[in-house]
Amino acid sequence: MPNSWISVIFMLCLFWHSSYGNVGKLVCYYDGASFVREGPAQLSLRELEIALGFCNILVYGYAGIDAETFKLKSLNPQLTYNQDHYRHIIALKQKFPHVRFLLSVGGDRDLNSEGVVETETYLRLLEEPERRNSFKLSAIEELRKFGFDGLDLAWQFPKNKPKVERGAIKKAWHAFKGWFKNSSIDEKAEEHKEQFATLLRELAVQMQTNGILSLTMLPHVDASLFIDVASVMNYVDFVNLGTYDFQTPERNPKVADIPAPLYAMYDREPSFNLDYQVQYWINQTANAQKLHIGVATYARAWLMSRDSGITGYPPIPATEGAAPMGKQTGVPGLLSWPEVCELLQVPFNKDKAPLRKVGDPTKRFGIYAYHAAEDEGEKGIWVGYEDPTSAAIKAGYVHAKGLGGVALFDISLDDFRGQCADEKYPILRSIKYKL
Ligand SMILES: *[C@@H]1O[C@H](CO)[C@@H](O)[C@H](O)[C@H]1NC(C)=O
Ligand SMILES: *[C@@H]1O[C@H](CO)[C@@H](O)[C@H](O)[C@H]1NC(C)=O
Repeated sequence: MPNSWISVIFMLCLFWHSSYGNVGKLVCYYDGASFVREGPAQLSLRELEIALGFCNILVYGYAGIDAETFKLKSLNPQLTYNQDHYRHIIALKQKFPHVRFLLSVGGDRDLNSEGVVETETYLRLLEEPERRNSFKLSAIEELRKFGFDGLDLAWQFPKNKPKVERGAIKKAWHAFKGWFKNSSIDEKAEEHKEQFATLLRELAVQMQTNGILSLTMLPHVDASLFIDVASVMNYVDFVNLGTYDFQTPERNPKVADIPAPLYAMYDREPSFNLDYQVQYWINQTANAQKLHIGVATYARAWLMSRDSGITGYPPIPATEGAAPMGKQTGVPGLLSWPEVCELLQVPFNKDKAPLRKVGDPTKRFGIYAYHAAEDEGEKGIWVGYEDPTSAAIKAGYVHAKGLGGVALFDISLDDFRGQCADEKYPILRSIKYKL
């Protein structure tokens, strides 16, 4: 009977659809600049290939925007064009046909002449149809020319200012809440919110025939100010949430704390955790399947003073900003997973013990490691980090909430050489197996 055939096919489709829907996506951020780093932090194309065996989507970061013409531009023309890096990356599609390659714009890498993250251009672009059009045409041209499968907007909106969260100061500052928000945020946020949705609509019209369009929320960009969630969700294929870096030595030099808790912690800013951010987006949209949680591969590290105490229990008072730069990555206050792994195994200062690791049996907050300051005046270090186990717990959250997947920031700071435990990309793998 034709009818029963139809229902069999229908059931098969349903089955296929639901089993497909249950597989979480893994979005891998790839920092193009890691190709030209010095020493062991340099990630070669061969090493990148290993990661591509695990990723569904590779997001190449980052392109920028020209402040005068509003056209998409390379942030490193030497690498991009002279060294043909885009072409070499896209050539990997032949070997990894299941992976989609997106080009990402912004990502806090597009800096102004003073070396500060550029936000002006990103807002001004929104304001005029001609500017949006110039961006749209140039972006689509670049994607087409090199063969990218789509565009990711890691839009550089202005960020919320850091909040001080302790004791008496906390109370005083809460009294001035309204004043606080103003000093940091865009006066024309309402208009920019509407215009950003318009930009996405205009891009989506083009992308339908030209590939994937995604949005990446950078940490501390307030979605309630800049994102009309209901509209935006119609235009993008997915959203990667900036659910990491809630606490960093740059923003909070005097207090060290778990950088990216899964759930709300006692007596902290209620929005500074992954669960809150996800809830916010779920509350505003019917489509949780389009949401990806951001997970960092790297740690944030603070210097401890003698006044920071010896317990290591966060929040840690009286820290003195970013810990010195790691040997491989060379960025103060930021340690790649292999750098953390080494500190957990090898004595921190000659003759002294490695960092003391403190796990999280509740699986709700996060893990850290530290070495308190010495009486003789030597500074200590406090490191909030993600390891393969804690990252897998976050991947488990994706299933529990029916979300779309995980966006990993980024693969170049995972242990791509297998220095730590003889396994390459342990964090990436761990998330993949959990998804
Ligand atoms: C602060 O924001 C409020 C509400 O958005 C507004 O009414 C007020 O004028 C702002 N104050 C300043 C100084 O910008
Ligand atoms: C989401 O909605 C629930 C129910 O209305 C509310 O209790 C909760 O505070 C909301 N959370 C966020 C983060 O908006």
